Order: sequence, then C-alpha cells, then structure tokens
Amino acid sequence: MNAKPYTIGVLTSGGDAPGMNPCIRAIVRTGLARGARVIGISNGFEGLINGEFRPLGARDVGGILLRGGTMLQTRRSAAFREPRGQREAIRRMNEYGIDGLIVIGGDGSLAGALALHKQEINVVGVPGSIDNDIWGTNISIGVDTAMNTIMDAVDKLRDTASSHGRAFLVETMGRGSGYLAVMAGIVSGAEIVLIPETQVTIQDVANAVESAYKRGKTHAFIINAEGSGITTAELAGALEDLDVGFKTRVTILGHIQRGGSPTAYDRLLASRMGVKAVDALLSGTFGVMTGLKGRGIEYVPLEEVVDTKREVNMEYYDMVSLLAR
Ligand code: F6P
Repeated sequence: MNAKPYTIGVLTSGGDAPGMNPCIRAIVRTGLARGARVIGISNGFEGLINGEFRPLGARDVGGILLRGGTMLQTRRSAAFREPRGQREAIRRMNEYGIDGLIVIGGDGSLAGALALHKQEINVVGVPGSIDNDIWGTNISIGVDTAMNTIMDAVDKLRDTASSHGRAFLVETMGRGSGYLAVMAGIVSGAEIVLIPETQVTIQDVANAVESAYKRGKTHAFIINAEGSGITTAELAGALEDLDVGFKTRVTILGHIQRGGSPTAYDRLLASRMGVKAVDALLSGTFGVMTGLKGRGIEYVPLEEVVDTKREVNMEYYDMVSLLAR
C-alpha cells in the first residue's frame, strides 16, 4: 500500500497583495510535482478555524497568475488571536490530515504562523503585504505592483497639475510604515513626504510647496502616508489657508493600491517564494519565512521576523527632497 502523500495546507491572511495568486499557483504546482497533496484554505485563519478546506489541483490554479487579489480570499481574524481559536484551528488541521501549512500574509499573519509553530505545527510563512514592513526580506509580494500603481496615478495627476499650476496632495497606504510613500516620493518626484516614522509639521509642508512655486515649478506633489499623524484633509485645509502659491487638490488612492494584475517582478518573486516554501516543508524546515536576500530566497526564522521591526531607510527619505530641487 502507498503511504499517504504529504499534505500541504495554504492560506492567505490579512490585507491582500497583488502576487498572492501567483504564489498559490506556485505552491500548488510545486507541491503536486513533488508528490504532495495541496489543500486550499479559504478566508485565512478564520477558514482554518471553520474547516473551509478544499483540495487544489493543477487546473484549479490555471489563469490566476495574472490576477490580483487572492483566489482563497483573506480575512483579518480576531478569533485566531485567542488561544481558543488557535486550538480549534489545530484540531481542524489534524482532523483533515494537514502535515504542513503555508501562510501568505503580512506581519500580523506571520505572527499567527509563529503562534502555530510554537504549538508544534509545521509552518512556513511567505511575506505578502504592499507595505513592505516585514523584517527578513528585501521586499514582500505586492510591493512592486502597488508602487507602480501609485506611480501611474501620480503620472496622470501630474498632467493635470501642470496644466493648472496646482499642488496635489496624494495619500498613500501605510498605516504603520512609510516605505510606500517614500519610494513613491522618489519615483513620482514629490516635494515632500509625510510618513509615520518622521515628524513633519504643516509649516514644513507649506514651506516646501511655496519654495517649489517660487522656484518656478509648474506643479508640486506632496505624498502623505495614511499613518503619518496628519490627516490629508487637515493638510489640505491648512495649505489653502496659508496661501502657498499653488492651489491644492487632493487624491486619496486608497484600496486601488491593493488591486491590479501583479507586475512581472511580483509574479517572479511570488513564484520563487512559493517554490521555496514547499521545499522548506518537504525538507523538514519549519518555523521560517521565505525572504529575498541579495539574489536568493533564504529561510529566516519566524521568531526573528516577528520580533524585529523593519525601519524605513532614511537615505531614501532624504533623497526625496534632494531630487526635488
Ligand atoms: O497592511 C496593508 C494595508 O493595505 C495598509 O497599508 C492599510 O493601512 C491597511 O492594509 C488597510 O486595511 P483594510 O483593507 O482593512 O482597510
């Protein structure tokens, strides 16, 4: 009689990120190629608790390479944060015969993965979050697509901003991290960026915009990360009152940043990490996250990932004003 094949469970959790689908596809197809069974778990840890399991075959993941979002759907699960929810999730996994679990998600989801690892569950994490705030990887799945989405939006806004001689206040995502806003500031040519990690005052913003006006610029962009501490509405009102030369308009990019077809970079990163995540489980490497370091995908202990805060590189932050001259 044949031994039962190794059974891999995969779920996506937290905020979705473009590239989660290519990662699921890579996990399913690599798992099958290595002789394993792959079970898709719907709705993140919530689905793990509720037993929302279905076997995935190679054809089930056909056509998802180019789709944003996640075919498994995702949730932020309050129940899973409680020991009771975790116990139920483990019971479900054992009942269904899942030998190893792959969790694709952001920092909260990876903390969930670590909680399971500490309870003897074989887990591997894959970093998926547009925020790029996860320690242990140069970049997470979804960041490149989100950055390109922001860049495209600002490029379009620049056309109208220049025509009218206006300043635009653009709000990006990033509740706790300024990475997206800083990088958007560089690739979109902003005057100044407001992020959770720095203390910029409304007066600093007004000075930067007024200076751009006096230097003869035809437009000015200010990028405000959602978690900067100053709301976009507050900032817009203040700029209007302070008379900085340009009239101001506001664009809040919102969840547009989380959608869209993953870029080539994200498809590649997600595929590479998916393959490595399966290989980790099948070779008995647990409690790790796949991380891009240099040119290779390495295994980083989940404990280190969860315990370490990834800081925004201030060199890039300074580059925004340096290049805005
Ligand atoms: O963590 C990803 C993220 O997109 C953050 O940048 C943002 O603040 C948050 O999720 C928004 O979450 P929700 O989709 O629950 O509104």
